[in-house]
Amino acid sequence: MKATLFTLFAVGGFLATSIASPLAVEKRQDIDAIETSLETLLTQIQEQTELINSTLTPVADAAPEADAEAVAEQIAPQLDVIADLLDKSANIAKRAILDGRYVKEDIFRTVSIILYELLGTVKFILIKLGLGPVLFHLVPLILALVKTLKALDKVVDGLLFAVKFIADDLLKAVGLGLLGLLP
Ligand SMILES: *[C@@H]1O[C@H](CO)[C@@H](O)[C@H](O)[C@H]1NC(C)=O
Repeated sequence: MKATLFTLFAVGGFLATSIASPLAVEKRQDIDAIETSLETLLTQIQEQTELINSTLTPVADAAPEADAEAVAEQIAPQLDVIADLLDKSANIAKRAILDGRYVKEDIFRTVSIILYELLGTVKFILIKLGLGPVLFHLVPLILALVKTLKALDKVVDGLLFAVKFIADDLLKAVGLGLLGLLP
């Protein structure tokens, strides 16, 4: 389709570059916007996981159920904020139109860091509280994450493939590994 258009412009005597460059700029802006919003997302997630960590640190490993329930209540607002942030990112990614030509390594790297941050924090939560008390707040977070990854994968070719093994670990950690949420 694109090739046909370009041929058409060339044949019609248009300067292909004058047509092509605004488009290229737009796509470049889209990928920059995604990069920037992912970096912002990482920072915002870290603000929440830092709070979660400081709540969890004084808690004994495998805390007794009543304690675990109480701590789970304390970290629930942060888990909900993370789920919201991921939801918003999914929507940003859905709106973007990208072109496979542009460098994607930065995006892969940022998404990997985000996933490792979530994985590390989720594992920390599980060590301290177990899955039961937090499951109700972790499931929306994971579903929002899956939505973001799928939306990003549509605009950044190969993203899911690049980060799938970390995402799978995260799904397994919360017992959602067998549901086939990711391709
Ligand atoms: C919170 O703790 C987990 C587990 O130690 C770690 O992976 C994560 O990076 C920590 N996050 C912050 C912001 O300190």
